[in-house]
Formats: sequence, C-alpha cells, structure tokens
Amino acid sequence: MADLDGNSAEKKDKEYFTGIPQETPKFFLKGSHQYDWGLQNRLAHIFNPVSGRAIMLAFDHGYFMGPTSGLERVDQTILPLEPYCDCLMLTRGIQRSIIPASTQKAIALRASGGTSMVSMGDDWEGEIAGQPATLSRPGYEPLSNEHLAVDIDEAIRLNASVLAVQVFIGSQYERQSLQNLTNLIDAAARYGIAVMGVVAVGRAMERTPKYFRMATRLMAELGCHMVKCYHIEEEFETITSCCPVPIVIAGGKKRPERDALQMAYDACEQGASGVDMGRNIFQADAPVPMMKAVRGVVHEGMNAEDAFALYEELKSES
Ligand code: R5P
Repeated sequence: MADLDGNSAEKKDKEYFTGIPQETPKFFLKGSHQYDWGLQNRLAHIFNPVSGRAIMLAFDHGYFMGPTSGLERVDQTILPLEPYCDCLMLTRGIQRSIIPASTQKAIALRASGGTSMVSMGDDWEGEIAGQPATLSRPGYEPLSNEHLAVDIDEAIRLNASVLAVQVFIGSQYERQSLQNLTNLIDAAARYGIAVMGVVAVGRAMERTPKYFRMATRLMAELGCHMVKCYHIEEEFETITSCCPVPIVIAGGKKRPERDALQMAYDACEQGASGVDMGRNIFQADAPVPMMKAVRGVVHEGMNAEDAFALYEELKSES
C-alpha cells in the first residue's frame, strides 16, 4: 500500500524539519569539550551545567584519620547535608555502609590510600590531618607513600563519577603518587570515568603561586579531568588560568564561617569551578546553614557578606 503521507513538501517541513539545521552544542565545562559522551555526562553530574560549578562535600578524611571530629557518625552528621551538595566525596566503606543507594548525587570516590596519620613522616606538615606538623616517627612510612586503594571494577560497581587520587609533588614519594595518578587515568579512561588529582601539601613544599601553578598544571598535563587544590590569597587567578581543566578548592582546616565563605567566594571569582569542602562545613557551628550558604556563593551568585547573613539567619532558626 502506498504511503498515505506521501512525500509532500509539507511533510518535509513538518516532520523532517528540513529548514532547521541540527545544532552542535558546546559542552559547558572548561577543557572538557572533546570527551566522550559518558565522561561528559559524569562531569555534568558533578558540575551544575547552569552555573558551571560544583559543590562537592568532602568527608573521605577517615581513610587515613579514622573518626575525626564531625565524622564520628557519618549517618548523623553528613546525611542531613546531602540534599544541598552536588557530589559526595567519600570512601567506598562509607558509601556502602551509610549512603543510601537511592541518592541522586554524583560520587567522587577516594581511590588512593594506604597509610594512616600516625605514619606521618618528615615530609608531611599535617595540613589535611589537622594534627601537629612536627609529628615524625622514624621507621614509619610517610603519608605520601600511597598506592591505589580501589580497583576500577569496584569503582564501576559503586557508580563513581570521578576518582580522587592524592599527588605529593616534591615529597619523597612524588614519583609513586604520580604513577598512581597515571595508572588510574588509564584504567578510568576505558570506562569514561573522570579522575581528580588532589594536590597534597608537604613540609618540603612552599605554598606559593609558583608551586600550585606547577602542581595543578602537571596533573592536568598527565590527564586529570579536574584538579583539587588549596586556595591561596596571592595570584590564585594565575593558577586557575594556566590549568586547562576545572579546579575545585579544598576547604582546609576549620576557620570562622565568614572567612570560609569569603574563601569560597574569592576562589570562584578567581576562576575556580567550585569547592570540595569538608571540615569547614561539617565542623561548622551549624552545618546545614553553612552548606546552604556555600551553595549561595557557588551557585547563586551571593557574595560572602550575603552568604554569611544567610548563614546567621538560618542558624538562628535552627
Ligand atoms: C584530604 O585528603 C581529603 O581528600 C579531604 O577530602 C580534603 O582535604 C577536603 O577536606 P577539607 O575541606 O576538610 O580540607
């Protein structure tokens, strides 16, 4: 039977949209426009395509610190924050035991580890541990002596969007940590999973713009899809500028809420693509209001003053 619709000019216009060329949309995220679909989709799960930024909630500290302050009971302290972030940065142990599989948030899975804070050696200043910088135990392995602690099959089972690996540039185990990074990038590339290089700061290294420019750029050149780095007051915009992939900032040690919001604001103004914050949120006087205030800065265009006012208001109501 003949096709009733025929092949009319009207059909061509209405059903084939012949007058409308198919668009080739750009991808919104810095340096990520030539990745495959699955990888871009995972990144779009971490970074909000509207603001172009991410709020990652970091609570993976237990992988070397155990139950640190604020993380004694992750079910009680972190789950209430979950609705307000974009991505959960965690260990596989906490993911399986505490985080509901129904979560809609992206997963940033801690993928390196192997030593604990009691093994901090001469090359470690204790910045991420919040412990005395002078801790030195001859005969113990320094914290930089990490290996990959998650297999790629496991990362797939856990539906990770991004895998986080610590890189200790300038430390005794620099080469090993870089090898961890490139091995993970190669494994993750087979499945379109992103890798985030995390700049660790050791005692041997300065916290200078030059150091951070080198560390972040080096990791991007080796194939990281995103980089996590500390914020510094001086020339931070040059660090984001010469890193060809997105940078998210670590929160670092707990500081007053107003200062933490200022840091998040300054970082975003200076080209950061969001935050990957832990202690400055879950150790805040009022963690849920702090989480919402950080959200105001990162996604809603608030300055630090307005965000702090929001924090105070929400805190007084809670
Ligand atoms: C450190 O290695 C961990 O990856 C933490 O997740 C990271 O330092 C961010 O946490 P905080 O904001 O507490 O520094």
